[in-house]
Amino acid sequence: MEALRVVPAIHYFDTFKEFNEAFRLGKRDLLVTNQWMYDPYVAPLGLDINVIYQEKFGSGEPSDEMIDAMAAEMKKYDFDRIVAFGGGTIVDICKVLSLEVPEKSVDLFTGAVKPKKKHELIVVPTTCGTGSEVTNVAIAELKSLHTKKGLAVEETYADAAVLVPESLQGLPDYVFATSSIDALIHAVESYLSPKASPFTEMYSLKAIEMIMDGYQKILVNGNTKENRAPYLKDFALASNYAGIAFGNAGCAAVHALSYSIGGAFHVPHGEANYQFFTEVFKMYMKKDPKGKIAQANAIFAQILNCDVAVVYEELDRFLGQLIGKKPLKEYGMTETQIDEFTDSTIENQQRLLKNNYVPFNREEIREIFAALY
Ligand SMILES: [Fe+2]
Repeated sequence: MEALRVVPAIHYFDTFKEFNEAFRLGKRDLLVTNQWMYDPYVAPLGLDINVIYQEKFGSGEPSDEMIDAMAAEMKKYDFDRIVAFGGGTIVDICKVLSLEVPEKSVDLFTGAVKPKKKHELIVVPTTCGTGSEVTNVAIAELKSLHTKKGLAVEETYADAAVLVPESLQGLPDYVFATSSIDALIHAVESYLSPKASPFTEMYSLKAIEMIMDGYQKILVNGNTKENRAPYLKDFALASNYAGIAFGNAGCAAVHALSYSIGGAFHVPHGEANYQFFTEVFKMYMKKDPKGKIAQANAIFAQILNCDVAVVYEELDRFLGQLIGKKPLKEYGMTETQIDEFTDSTIENQQRLLKNNYVPFNREEIREIFAALY
């Protein structure tokens, strides 16, 4: 079996200025970003560069309509490289924009049009969560088909993944919390995946250690920009390590179940994942407490300095300082949706469910939704 593969070349710079010096950004580049990132980091450099602000094309997670509109805008510019400088939405959109985009981008997601790479893609993530800079997955809501779908082909890998911790400085407290918890869950789910290898485990474990350690230091005085500043480098690296781990070993049930409320109620990805995290693990424990999950629990118990028997309660208490955990009905879920979401998870999320620590049957998935409802 293939033990580890990382496609993009990974670069690291303390500042955006140093990144620019190495990559010599200029008029043969198209920068896709948000104005709130352009103003503090790019504008002072006085670059002659083509720029598209993603927020002009809609807010929230990527959709095929957003991609189509941006692809049309892109035609106004003559350029070679795309530089994606933003969060998960910008990174995923640029993976698609780096291909030859047909009139309707939905055709790439359905497979009607074969992906063909057109532009070199440089990704500079500005959140510490998705790890999307090293994976080939681009997820978009396909409005015309009323569904969410991932495109994951060889052509959607970036050519370069560039980590610039400076660009995490302005993250709002809540975005820091949701994105870093997402990274923590990438690390844990990939650690327990049957596809894990000794190489992915190394990245998973290091990411868990760095994220939990960073949280402990930050939370002494609260999750604020000032308290996070000394640890941004650790979080930038840890989310990338977790990306490498899950890019190879995959994510599983936590992600699979969370897409239901993410899609139906537009709950941000990291927050939705967090709602399911420990409940999924309790079900794993019921089914096979002695396997690898025992090692994961021991690691968390040691970090949290608690008895392994109460590790999930302690984990909820600890992470609860960053994001609130609430019943799913508070997001708008109804009782009938317990069955609906169970069925749609089984129907649409097999890509993830096959990476479970242990397989879940319908009743077990339903039990998780019911317990959290
Ligand atoms: Fe995720």
